[in-house]
Amino acid sequence: MTVSVGSYSLDDLECDLLLAPSARTESGEYDKNVEALFGSAFRLASVDFTGKPGEWVVFYPEVSGVRRVALLGWNPTGSDVREELRRVAATGADVASRLKVRSVAVRVPVVDLDVDDACQAVVEGFMLAGYRFTRYRTGEEARPFGVEHLVLLTDGSGVDGAEQGRVISEAVYTARDLVNLSPDEKTPGLFGEAILQEGRKWNYEVEIWGREMIEAEGLRGLLAVNRGSTEDPAFAILRWNPPDAVNDRPIVLVGKGIVFDTGGLSLKPTKGSMDQMKADMAGAAAVIGAFQCAARLNLPVSLVGLIPITDNRPGENAFVRVDVIRMHSGKTVEVLNTDAEGRLVLADALSFARRFEPLLAIDLATLTGAAVVALGTVAAPIMTNNLPGATERLEKLERAGHRSGDRVHPMPMYDDYAKALESDVADLKNVGGREAGAITGAKFLEHFVSYPWIHIDIAGPAFLERADSYRPSGGTGFGVRLLADFLLDFVKEAQQA
Ligand code: BES
Ligand code: MN
Ligand code: ZN
Repeated sequence: MTVSVGSYSLDDLECDLLLAPSARTESGEYDKNVEALFGSAFRLASVDFTGKPGEWVVFYPEVSGVRRVALLGWNPTGSDVREELRRVAATGADVASRLKVRSVAVRVPVVDLDVDDACQAVVEGFMLAGYRFTRYRTGEEARPFGVEHLVLLTDGSGVDGAEQGRVISEAVYTARDLVNLSPDEKTPGLFGEAILQEGRKWNYEVEIWGREMIEAEGLRGLLAVNRGSTEDPAFAILRWNPPDAVNDRPIVLVGKGIVFDTGGLSLKPTKGSMDQMKADMAGAAAVIGAFQCAARLNLPVSLVGLIPITDNRPGENAFVRVDVIRMHSGKTVEVLNTDAEGRLVLADALSFARRFEPLLAIDLATLTGAAVVALGTVAAPIMTNNLPGATERLEKLERAGHRSGDRVHPMPMYDDYAKALESDVADLKNVGGREAGAITGAKFLEHFVSYPWIHIDIAGPAFLERADSYRPSGGTGFGVRLLADFLLDFVKEAQQA
């Protein structure tokens, strides 16, 4: 889809559909500007239109190159105007899809935001709602989203914001595609190959390790989880290291890459539990999407990405309850549940990350069902270790969450929670019990980090059973917009200092 910005007057504009967000003010009036543009056609069309979010009505203006106009209800006074813009643009994308149009123009409302930020939000809402996963469809359902051209109508500014929104949305598409891919098409070997191709396409470095390198490095948590599989594990190292980077020590992004999680010998009960587990590499997908953004936006920030990859299955040689693993860091872990596999592969990646002397490491993982119980699919819990700057780190990420729409919320990391992981035979055990499961998961990982670190448990928002506005059912690409915003802000702050 092409995206452009212009200050066309209606007389010059040619499009199949013009989207006009038009809320009612408190006194029951519409946006006077929209009304003024279309006169009587507008007044007739709006007779039964209340202007509520999600509502829309289409009319056909008599003159001008605009073939259809859709009035879109929305909430300009909502507490989060970026999110309201994304949502109204998503409604617009649904209308465009129903009417099967190819060229769409949007009147970008004047709101309490930079025009660039407003344009970014509108493009994201529109493009993210226009995402279609058609790989496994054959009939009518295989039809792609038909819009080819999107024009944003502004005072002429907002070009950079619109472009940023387009690049970020395409990176979200990549992450969604990877999550939605059937597990047999993303075996460790194939997934590694896909990451190599991404690196080639966007011009960042990718190294894929196979079993030998993994054994030589001693990533024994990853090897333990892989024991039940018929496929070798893989370990991906991504690098984006521009010459003008604002940071010497890299930001390390770690993504959980369990391509399918059956639970292993602690097998998951199928219904409502194992069905979503092709999404257990959503953390990896977010890291891949973030690299795409960094490379395409040419961000002057030095990044390393680490992705441990395997499936978790109950094969003949699968690791068992009470196995003790000597992890990459040297610490020993008693396995009391083979379904708590994510923390084992992440712990190794995090202890390996030490060699890069990270300025900060962020891991994204579909780690616990407890995170879903805590915050649902709306937001992801974040947790950090108690090194200097802990509060500021979390606040920065939280702000990135609010701006980007990939919302995150902090959870406490009191020492008290560590007790749950004490083992009778090893340094720690891999499960903490029923209480505070998202936190004990983070507490486990904390044993393996020695630098500033944030853990994001994305188990809730990474995958949706039902579509919600611009988030489709299936993979959402959660984390891509969050990381892109966080990194953009990191660069901006460093350049101002
Ligand atoms: N991949 C799952 C977590 C998950 C659950 C992701 C629901 C998405 C939706 C993870 O590997 C897992 O099985 N976690 C266990 C941990 C427990 C055994 C300590 C869980 O949450 O039940
Ligand atoms: Mn599991
Ligand atoms: Zn898992």
